[in-house]
Amino acid sequence: MTSTYSLAVVAGDGIGPEVTDQALKVLDVVAEGAGLTFDRTAYDLGARRWHATGETLPDTVLEEIRGHDAILLGAVGDPSVPSGVLERGLLLRLRFELDHYVNLRPSKLFPGVPTPLADPGEIDFVVVREGTEGPYVGNGGAIRVGTPHEVATEVSLNTAFGVERVVRDAFARAQARPRRKLTLVHKNNVLVHAGHLWSRTVEAVGAEFPDVTVDYLHVDAATIFLATDPARFDVIVTDNLFGDILTDLAAAITGGIGLAASGNVNPDRTSPSMFEPVHGSAPDIAGQSKADPTAAILSAGLLLEHLGHAAEAQRITAAVEADIAARDGQPRSTQEVGEAIAERVAAEV
Ligand code: NAI
Ligand code: MG
Repeated sequence: MTSTYSLAVVAGDGIGPEVTDQALKVLDVVAEGAGLTFDRTAYDLGARRWHATGETLPDTVLEEIRGHDAILLGAVGDPSVPSGVLERGLLLRLRFELDHYVNLRPSKLFPGVPTPLADPGEIDFVVVREGTEGPYVGNGGAIRVGTPHEVATEVSLNTAFGVERVVRDAFARAQARPRRKLTLVHKNNVLVHAGHLWSRTVEAVGAEFPDVTVDYLHVDAATIFLATDPARFDVIVTDNLFGDILTDLAAAITGGIGLAASGNVNPDRTSPSMFEPVHGSAPDIAGQSKADPTAAILSAGLLLEHLGHAAEAQRITAAVEADIAARDGQPRSTQEVGEAIAERVAAEV
C-alpha cells in the first residue's frame, strides 16, 4: 500500500534545524521501507523571520500549514528575541489555532539509560496533558505595573467540553495499553472549582471504560511518586500547567531532555497534529553539532503512530533502543547519532 502525506516542517531556531534534519533522515528511511511518501514543505518561522519582517506566524502561513497532514517542529526561541514573543506568537499560537488539545508525552526508561533514580523500576507511562485551556489561555492582565500596587492575574480556564474531550482521549489510550490504568493528577483539595470539574468528569467518563482502573493523586504527591515509584504510573491525565511541570520531571528520570518526545495532537483530526522534542532551542550548544537528535527522532515516531503506522513507529523505537544500548559514553555528533539510528532502521527491514 502506498500512501502520500503532506508534511509541514518548522525546524525553527538554535538546535531545532540540526535535530530536525536527523529526524527527517530517519523518517525517510522508514517511509521508504513501508511504501510511504512524505511531501515536505519547509516553513521559515522563528527568530530569523522575526528579525527580518517582524512576523511570528502570519495568518496566510497558518492557513497553509493547516492544509497539511502533520507538522514536524524542531524548537523555537532565541536569546536575540524578547522572551515569549516566539514561544507565544508561534508555538502556543499553533497549538491553540490547530486545537491541539492533547499534549502527549510518553516516558519510558530505555535499558542502559542513566537515571538519577537509584531504584527506578520499570518506567513506562504516558502523560496526557490538556493543551488548550488552564492557566495558559492568556486570561489575565496587569495594572499599576512596576508600582508597589501592581495587580496581576492569570486565570485558569476549564470548560466541561475541554476537560471531557481530553479525559476521554486519556481513557481510550489507557484501555489500549496492557496495564489499563489511569491516574488523574490535580489539586482538587485546594483548587476546588476546576478540580471538582476534572474529578467529576473522570468519574463520569470512567463509567464507559469499566476495565480501566482509575487512581487520583494531588500534583504535589505525584511529584513524590514520580521520584520514588514511577513504575506505578501508566496513563496520567492532567491540566496544562501541572502537565508541563510533571513532564519535565518525567524527562529527567528517564534519561533527560535529549530523549523526551512529544505530540501536540488533535484527536478529532480537524487540523494537523504537531510533533516535537520536549527540549527547546538550546542556544548554549547551537551550531556545534552537540545536540542529541534522539528526542526529535522519537517525535517522528509519534507522528507515524498518529498517522496509523504503528508498526513503522515501533521500528523507530526499536532502533533508538538498540542505539541507546550500544552507547559507550563517547561523544558523538548530532549527525553521527542520526546516521547510526537511520542505519539500524534500514537494517531492520
Ligand atoms: P532548552 O531545552 O533549550 O535547554 C535546556 C538545557 O538542555 C541546555 O543546557 C541545553 O543545552 C540542553 N539541551 C536541550 N536539548 C538538548 C539536546 N537535544 N541535546 C543535548 N542537550 C540539550 O531550554 P531553555 O534553555 O530553557 O530554553 C532555550 C530556548 O528554547 C528559550 O527561548 C525557550 O523559550 C525555548 N524553548 C522552546 C521550546 C519549544 O520550542 N517547544 C521548549 C522549551 C524551551
Ligand atoms: Mg516545559
